[in-house]
Amino acid sequence: MTDHIFDFIGGDSGQWQVTKMSTAIGESMEMVSHLKIVPSSLITQNDSIWTLKGLKSNIRYAEKAEKEKLLAVQEGLGREQATCAALIPLQKNEAWWNLAQDERRKIFESQSKHTATGLHYLPAIARQLYHCRDIGQPFDFLTWFEYAPEHADAFEELVFQLRKTEEWSYVDWEVDIRLVKV
Ligand code: HEM
Repeated sequence: MTDHIFDFIGGDSGQWQVTKMSTAIGESMEMVSHLKIVPSSLITQNDSIWTLKGLKSNIRYAEKAEKEKLLAVQEGLGREQATCAALIPLQKNEAWWNLAQDERRKIFESQSKHTATGLHYLPAIARQLYHCRDIGQPFDFLTWFEYAPEHADAFEELVFQLRKTEEWSYVDWEVDIRLVKV
């Protein structure tokens, strides 16, 4: 099975049109007008400006009760009304990766309340996390969100909340790409 690995292809064509590209922290990425998301196994030719690869993986931090709460309210990608999207690639610093798993969980949830905060925005925001640290990619994570235009302000608020947390003090590269469905 290789279709859990996806290519996020920035270029001049694709099912998503870029409306805004900004850099929250770190180096900027070359601007593109469109984004294509394709299972890596289906790539035949690639005329991209850049390509980011990420894979769907198992959960690391969510505990059983949180997982159940998420499953009870979250909606999947590809909803018709969800014509807005955000691709936010992130990298965390060495200090984060040098922590033990239990220390990271403490920062992620006990201190930063990542899941508790995020849950308030479900089911309006649909999300998918892709991991890429272990496959030699420039970023550690690609985060992908889909929502209807009427929830665009709520999404801004969520991102604002998360960026103020202790967890985000470990983020040393974050690019923020907003899109609309073509
Ligand atoms: C990881 C929930 C929004 C960035 C996670 C995890 C959960 C979660 C449960 C842990 C997965 C695991 O156990 O491995 C949510 C919910 C959100 C939300 C419910 C509401 C829409 C966001 C946003 C961003 C973001 C807006 C980026 C701006 C990340 C990152 C990770 C993550 C980078 C991986 C953290 C790590 O492994 O170090 N999220 N999240 N999340 N989320 Fe969110």
